[in-house]
Amino acid sequence: MTRTHQRLFFALWPGEETRRALWEVSGKLHQVWSGRRMKPDTLHMTLVFLGDTPVEKLETIRGIASAMDIHKFRLAFGRAACWRHNKVGFLSPDESPPELLQLVYGLEDKLEEAGIAFDERPYKPHLTLLRNTRCTTQVPFESIAWNIEEFVLVSSTTRETGPVYQLIGRWPLKP
Ligand code: 2AM
Repeated sequence: MTRTHQRLFFALWPGEETRRALWEVSGKLHQVWSGRRMKPDTLHMTLVFLGDTPVEKLETIRGIASAMDIHKFRLAFGRAACWRHNKVGFLSPDESPPELLQLVYGLEDKLEEAGIAFDERPYKPHLTLLRNTRCTTQVPFESIAWNIEEFVLVSSTTRETGPVYQLIGRWPLKP
């Protein structure tokens, strides 16, 4: 069956070293807060969540991504917290550098101009590590520095074993 829609989002996708560091922190948090750990190969930080999108929009979406003119930047993940409402445990960057916000808001503006729907709630940069969890006490961990050199477009399908993510586009940032 040909799919008419794909569940899409733009994200930052960690390389091996960052992924290992995130997985280590996830283990520390899990020991204290419990819940369900996100699998290491699925860890990412969402930039813009488009959700179910007609496949005929893909070309426009790729064009929008290619036109982003943003410099590389660095994120330091030194904060771990939970949201009560959805029981998500996550890391968040200590600061949101201008390049991160230019990237997120730039993509959003161009998607809006093109009439492509996305989740319009205010952007809260976070990287989910645990689900169905609750922050009890503070857990010490070493801050993770992540050099952001590209962003990706991800297509998500839900299987019984959890979501499966496929990277369907990647765009480098400027030096
Ligand atoms: P989460 O980790 O906070 O759940 C794939 O589902 C990615 O898209 C996850 O990073 C998820 O964030 C994010 N996501 C899912 N639904 C979303 C929505 N309605 N708005 C924004 N982000 C969403």
